[in-house]
Amino acid sequence: MEEQQQGEQTKPKKILCIGLVCLDIISVVDKFPEEDSDSRCVSQRWQRGGNASNSCTVLSLLGSPCAFMGSLCAGPVASFILEDFARFQVEVCLPRERAACVTPTSLVIGSAATGSRTILHMNSNIPDVTFEDFSALDLSAFKWIHWEGRNADEQLKMMAAVERRNAALPRQRRIVTSVEIEKPRENLYRLFPHADVVFVSKDVSRQLGFHTPQNAIRGLAGRLRAGAVLICAWAEKGADALDADGTLLHSDAFPPQHLVDTLGAGDTFNAAVVHKLANGCRLQEALTFGCRVAGAKCGFHGYDAIADQLTQM
Ligand code: ADP
Ligand code: FRU
Repeated sequence: MEEQQQGEQTKPKKILCIGLVCLDIISVVDKFPEEDSDSRCVSQRWQRGGNASNSCTVLSLLGSPCAFMGSLCAGPVASFILEDFARFQVEVCLPRERAACVTPTSLVIGSAATGSRTILHMNSNIPDVTFEDFSALDLSAFKWIHWEGRNADEQLKMMAAVERRNAALPRQRRIVTSVEIEKPRENLYRLFPHADVVFVSKDVSRQLGFHTPQNAIRGLAGRLRAGAVLICAWAEKGADALDADGTLLHSDAFPPQHLVDTLGAGDTFNAAVVHKLANGCRLQEALTFGCRVAGAKCGFHGYDAIADQLTQM
């Protein structure tokens, strides 16, 4: 026990993100194509995608040691994805081998005229991370666990396990938890009261009848557990939040000079907020930093250039 505690103290603890990794095949067009037309795109690239996977990329670029847990199927696409995780120094925790499955893929049309991204996602037959997979992890390696809301039943079991573990530990050794509720699916709304920090999307907010980030925060606060934080990003409107003590907070957006690529803006925002909170910053600072990093990201393709822009943030 003593040995384990010493080990825990010497290694820097990581942020673990659990959710989707997929291949994004991105075609950049100068004008969005018409149906049944035949046109050329400006450029095309493969990029590792998926919300949790993108957030890991950004966490790592910001200097937070992190790990990804999600399903992959052996093959050339998985090799591309694993090489890219390694390039960004993201540790990968793979669940048990999935038989005869296909790695999910998105076809993305990025418009050079507007910076919009149109995503056609193929979720394939790959099972998400289960509670059994999660149970194989040594949780002492992590200071924060972030779930991309997906298979809520299994994720609720994972969250309960972390809560049980936390209850037996002094405050400074507890794992902080966050969850992203992005897809407007009723099943995911059960996740609201089970994390310390909840990211809710504008799509979910709208589906639940809230048409501004302020209304979403006020209207959804009651779904959280006492003392939790709620955060709602809203593209060019920036982001709003409710702090653990009930204070309402806001950050404006920081639009880039030219909107180039909004793919993964939300994942970038989440990562930048988690990075700051996990390093002891206050929520207002984290919110503003999230909007700065996500806004800057909308000004270039992919994520790499985040590292170059950090000195200006
Ligand atoms: P998603 O990618 O999930 O749709 P959002 O559109 O809510 O995410 O954007 C997340 C964050 O990214 C916003 O809070 C904002 O800071 C930044 N952002 C996104 N789009 C823009 C934009 N057009 N101009 C400036 N900032 C943006
Ligand atoms: C961006 C993203 C893409 C992926 C899609 C899946 O937020 O994670 O990388 O193709 O969403 O819904």
